[in-house]
Amino acid sequence: MTASPAVPRHPPRRDPGDRPPAPFVEPVGSFDAATVAAALPIGTRFALGAAISPVQRAFLDRHGFLLFTEVATADEVDTILAEVDQIEADLLAKGERKVYGVPVWFGLDPDGNEYLFRMGFTSAHSSFLSEFVRHGRFEPIRLLIGADARIGEREKDGVVFNRYVRAASSLRPNLAWHTDALRDVFYNWKMPGPMLNVGLHFDRIGPEDGGLQIVPGTHTQGAWSTLFSKIHFVSDGPDRHQVAVETWPGDLTVHDGRMWHRVVASPKTGWASLRRSMYVPYVCDAYQPKSETSATPLYMRVFDAIVRSRARAAAKAGEREKERQRTLLKG
Ligand SMILES: [Fe+2]
Repeated sequence: MTASPAVPRHPPRRDPGDRPPAPFVEPVGSFDAATVAAALPIGTRFALGAAISPVQRAFLDRHGFLLFTEVATADEVDTILAEVDQIEADLLAKGERKVYGVPVWFGLDPDGNEYLFRMGFTSAHSSFLSEFVRHGRFEPIRLLIGADARIGEREKDGVVFNRYVRAASSLRPNLAWHTDALRDVFYNWKMPGPMLNVGLHFDRIGPEDGGLQIVPGTHTQGAWSTLFSKIHFVSDGPDRHQVAVETWPGDLTVHDGRMWHRVVASPKTGWASLRRSMYVPYVCDAYQPKSETSATPLYMRVFDAIVRSRARAAAKAGEREKERQRTLLKG
């Protein structure tokens, strides 16, 4: 895939002296993949080849997590970010706040302008993105989900794009500990099968930047532990076994949603706190496409109300801060 280089408004931080560690190289000859995987550090980076290797599969089975190094090229990263800039401009111009029934979330950026924080069905607005997510290099990822898995560009929430940035006066956008298994456990009192989330990461995120944190190995926990070891979306304290997922632009992660995971807000403010990711939905259930007339799901309406009230609180906090500055200046 040749990307026509495009320039995003906020290119990711790229420091030539800050290259990712080299990916793991599969041993040759006979070896026990589970033993090799067990000896690897949790921060091991893998290379995405023509197929998932035995050690990669064993690592995923053990930890519920895999990271593939720089799966998207620098040109592709820039082009995708520029495409999302364009989609944002189009949504703002048309005043659209929903795509196929899924709310699009805008907030204020550090310059005080309206800024797209999260949207679903992103690839439905960009032929480049649609082509990119269906590229042949991701075939091993699709097969990892299931032989009959497909990319649900128009199903569920479609391709979800997140762009979190923290303005000086805004609330820290975080997501407390949770699993994606709560619904199944609640209704069936049984843990579901693997729930693999596939994410692409567009920014250089070090442990000091917050971002995705996981508790490796908890994807095999039982229903009891899922319900009671933490309170979903409320517990937000550090976990002794947590691991911060460190990314370079273009990295791809696979994490099993049954494990405890959270998103920690960046302690930085302004554009230095920018963190962008894209989640690609792989679907195995019956085809249920969404359209312009799709109703907003109930959980989305609840989530939307929370996001909007947070945005209002952030705007109020900003006003108070401005007022304080004015008072200080007067004084
Ligand atoms: Fe999640």
